[in-house]
Amino acid sequence: MVNQNKMLEITHIIEKCEPFLSLNSAFIEINSLLKNSKFNKENGFRYIAKDPLMTCIVLSKAANSVDNGRILTLKKAVEILGEDSLKNIFSQQIMQETFLDSRKDENEDFWLHNLGVGIISKIICENTIYSSKADELYFAGLLHDLGSYVIKKYFKNDYQIIQEIVGKDPNKRLLLAEKKVLGVTHQEIGTFYATKMNLPKSIINVIRHHHYVDSSMDDKQNIAIVMVANNLAKGMKFGKSDNFYLEPIPDWVWRYLQLDQTMYYQIISDIQDKFDIATAFIK
Ligand SMILES: [Fe+2]
Ligand SMILES: [Fe+2]
Repeated sequence: MVNQNKMLEITHIIEKCEPFLSLNSAFIEINSLLKNSKFNKENGFRYIAKDPLMTCIVLSKAANSVDNGRILTLKKAVEILGEDSLKNIFSQQIMQETFLDSRKDENEDFWLHNLGVGIISKIICENTIYSSKADELYFAGLLHDLGSYVIKKYFKNDYQIIQEIVGKDPNKRLLLAEKKVLGVTHQEIGTFYATKMNLPKSIINVIRHHHYVDSSMDDKQNIAIVMVANNLAKGMKFGKSDNFYLEPIPDWVWRYLQLDQTMYYQIISDIQDKFDIATAFIK
């Protein structure tokens, strides 16, 4: 049983924490652009938009720099901050992250899972009646597992214990293991963190409910799309999620998205192509 002190510790850590980064190929690319004085808004955007934590920092800093908070798109956030602030943000982060013990290999697969979910969410939108939401859903998919990043960063020991529990039984639900060890899931931890970072409400709702669309009252379409994308990313082996459990998607979700069998096969090859293009820069 998780005690009250654990919950207090979690809330306290998240209240105090600063935005952070994790080492992966997209971050390394930004690092080398900065080192070679080749960083600008355009090429910066290209790699920031591939990574949940860099996107989170930019949205958060832009939200903090305006009066009414919450910036809805990364493009707008990049415009608000401008090139010098962006350089500043990532230069500072590089200084810090270079000295941390994080290794690219450990983080790369989880990052690719998140990127995959973003790409798939976008393609589902483009092939359904939700095409106008494609960009919004790309970022919701990219950021859906933000809470797992927070657990890996701030609750390392708990993360190890959770992985041991899940690792012993591939069908063991990650959420149950998280509840047992932390008292809360990565959905809830992600929600605390995203709220603190002033992320848009529609992204927060996806973070909060992406494993159980039925538990949400709002943004159900967005959540349903990311839930399907999350399962497809696991099935297509894009990177590695924290668990391999494929959640049963309620029948109504498929009807709701108006995905038929033929479209599904077209989408699969499109998804593979777009994922290959998005990751072609990785050395
Ligand atoms: Fe998740
Ligand atoms: Fe996921």
